[in-house]
Amino acid sequence: MLFEFERELSSAATHEGLIIGLFDKPEKFSGPLAKLDESFDGQLTQLVKSGDVSAKLKRISKVHSLGKIGSKRIWFVGLGKEKELTFDQLRNAFGKVFKEVNRSKLNEAAVYLDSFVTEKVDGLDVAHAVGEAFALASYHFEGYRQKSNEPERKVETLTIYNESVEEEDLRASVMVGYAFGTGTNSARSLVNTPGNLLTATDLANYAADLGAKYQFEVEVLDKPEIEKLGMGAFLAVNQGSIEPPKMIVLKYQGKEDWTDVIGLVGKGITFDTGGYSIKTKAGIVGMKTDMGGAAAVLGAMEIIGELRPEQNVVAVIPSTDNMISGNAFKPDDVITSMSGKTIEVLNTDAEGRLVLSDAITYAKHHGANYLVDVATLTGGVITALGVHTTGAMTNNEPLYEQVLEASIEAGEQMWQLPLFESEKERVRNSPVADLNNSPGSEGHAIVAGAFIGEFAEGTPWVHLDIAGTATSKKEYDLGPAGATGVMTRTLALFVERFEPLN
Ligand code: BES
Ligand code: MN
Ligand code: ZN
Repeated sequence: MLFEFERELSSAATHEGLIIGLFDKPEKFSGPLAKLDESFDGQLTQLVKSGDVSAKLKRISKVHSLGKIGSKRIWFVGLGKEKELTFDQLRNAFGKVFKEVNRSKLNEAAVYLDSFVTEKVDGLDVAHAVGEAFALASYHFEGYRQKSNEPERKVETLTIYNESVEEEDLRASVMVGYAFGTGTNSARSLVNTPGNLLTATDLANYAADLGAKYQFEVEVLDKPEIEKLGMGAFLAVNQGSIEPPKMIVLKYQGKEDWTDVIGLVGKGITFDTGGYSIKTKAGIVGMKTDMGGAAAVLGAMEIIGELRPEQNVVAVIPSTDNMISGNAFKPDDVITSMSGKTIEVLNTDAEGRLVLSDAITYAKHHGANYLVDVATLTGGVITALGVHTTGAMTNNEPLYEQVLEASIEAGEQMWQLPLFESEKERVRNSPVADLNNSPGSEGHAIVAGAFIGEFAEGTPWVHLDIAGTATSKKEYDLGPAGATGVMTRTLALFVERFEPLN
């Protein structure tokens, strides 16, 4: 993908497609648009007046230039009222128009950046939105057909016309946005890959490659090492599998000293059958996506590797599938986690919290002072919040505020669920062990969070349940149906902006 930068937009500029923002209600075009309109003998103004070209938010209108200007087609992007346009709306609008431009199978297009700038959303913001939306909206998962129906074609060169900002700053901003988009796309591809083609070993190899590319310190624990460390909760989930488990650790040090370390922990279940508490034949389909948390953490690490913020991060990913066999763990089993806490297994399908408990403990061993875990953890979060909102829980409001701020900027909705003492008690209630892993289906997104919180203990911690948001049944402005890569951008932004708590 190539971004090119030009200053003045003239009517003579030759492009396959020209993308122009249109605010409500332009009485008359001004600046370069006035010149374009002149080339059309005032017909553009007429099209807007008649409503054939709409300035309504996210309305896209394609106009053929019929040789009147150098560019073959114009895509007008409705932006609504100039004062009301938000960064998030603009990013979505770009996603929508880039999808249409890609559908037209052009190799090349141009964006008239200045036509999108407002008082609130400056040229650098627009540039970021262009880079990010272009990457996100152009994402496509190849799949495994012998012959794809149509060769995938997308715009390879995007020229950006801008007179409002320095070119160097603009280029940097586009590239930052693009990095956020491509990191998210990597997470999407991991999630879209089926369990037979993405085992724990494959995920570990992927992480090691990422680490090599960005000079992260990489540690992949194999089964004997996991056993030696006493990760009994993680091992129990792996017990029924022929695939060995991997505890994957990536370290990025952006500060002089290994202090104020952010631990990012991602659930990496490559396929979740439910184990002996087996899923239904309908419920089991789609469980290749149960490593969505791991994918978000790896996607965020890719962005962090590109942008190299002055922060310290340790990423920890417990990875295995959850299978059935004569060796598999079963309900009533009592297991001992790395922390020493014992757990009565009431439901083998509540496996995410088990692998995460040891991963959280291990992140603390690596010096994590702050913890954010991300997991496709419960169907309960879908019942509570639907499929467009990630469920959040925390033991530290100021830390949660920082995660929430990042999510708002990333355009990824989240909402907090409470962790009251009453629900913590349900997790601590077992006749034989310190904890039980499934105290019943009432509010089960919350008890899952409460369970993980037992292992965060006093460390400031935020838990993000993405069971509803990691995939989308329908396509949307910034991506196709399938994996969304949700929380990749939120995590990366959170890390970039992170301020230690006192
Ligand atoms: N991986 C599932 C959660 C899930 C459900 C993810 C739907 C994506 C879509 C998780 O391991 C699970 O099975 N959770 C159980 C917990 C229950 C047994 C307490 C659930 O939500 O039903
Ligand atoms: Mn499960
Ligand atoms: Zn699961």
